[in-house]
Order: sequence, then structure tokens, then C-alpha cells
Amino acid sequence: MTIVNVYVCEICGEAYIGESAPSRCPFCGAFKKYFVEAKDYDDVGAWDIELNEKDRANIEKALELEISNTIFYRCSSKKTPELEGQKLFKILAKVENEHASVWKKILKLDKIELPKYDKCAAEYRPNLEESHSREDRAINFYGQAAAEAKSERVKQLFKAFLEVETDHLHLSETRLK
Ligand SMILES: [Fe+2]
Ligand SMILES: [Fe+2]
Repeated sequence: MTIVNVYVCEICGEAYIGESAPSRCPFCGAFKKYFVEAKDYDDVGAWDIELNEKDRANIEKALELEISNTIFYRCSSKKTPELEGQKLFKILAKVENEHASVWKKILKLDKIELPKYDKCAAEYRPNLEESHSREDRAINFYGQAAAEAKSERVKQLFKAFLEVETDHLHLSETRLK
């Protein structure tokens, strides 16, 4: 009999059932190092954070960026003709939406409205190119925000998402070759 366990991602707080922690969080994409066994998970201090003005401003910008990327990827998953592209953009939309949820939770906001968006291309390649430039922008901003962060938790989140967006950059890079 295979023994499974419950693991929790310390970045998004979601749980995962498996034989071991996954290499990437299926929800937010955070790396394996952020998983702990559910019995050891302690969310004290994870969501109730005092934000200084700079951290708050950066998180508000991050939320905006993640919402913008979510609606771009949703649009791309619908308009890209290739099934591979539809699958890629759909999972990217889900991960970016999870990032938006994390920032929403840190900012203690209620529901976030996703604006309507249909300005993506009807072809795979231009959407990959836009994905590449959006992820590049996210990586640069998250790197700067991580360096500026006062709160350790905020720094951890920016660093973790920087790694995830780097994964995303590699997905478009290998397909644009
Ligand atoms: Fe996660
Ligand atoms: Fe993201």
C-alpha cells in the first residue's frame, strides 16, 4: 500500500495529498521547499501582517499585475487555436489568479472583480511573445519589491513568486525558439 500524506504550501496555504510534496505547488506554483507536513503548518503571522507604506504600495501593484496577467491568459486560452497552447495558457491563468488571491488576502480585500478582456491574439506565437514580456516585467518588479520589502513574510512571497514567474518565462522561451 502506498502511504500518502497531506502537505501544505506556506506561500498560498493550500493543501496537497501525495506520497511526497510536489516539485511545484499545483495552486500557486511555489517550489517544493515551501511545503510542510500539514501537522507542522502554522499560519500565525502568514496573513495578518503589518504593512509599511512601501510594502503596501508594492503589493497593490502586484495585485494589479496578477489580475492583468490572469485575464490575458484566460483570453489566450480561449483564442489560441492549438490545444497545447490552450492548456498552457489555462494553467497559467489559474496560477496567476492564485497569486492575485494571495495578495488580496494580504491586503484584506473582499472579492476581486476580473475585468473583461479580449485583446489577446488569435494565434499561439504572438500570445507566447506577450506572455514572455509580461513574465519578464513581473520578474523585474518582484525582484525589486523583494529587495525593498520590510516584512519578512512579504519578502518571502515576492521571492517565491519571482521563482514561479521565472518558470513561466522558461515555458514561453522554449516554445519561441
Ligand atoms: Fe501554493
Ligand atoms: Fe504571478
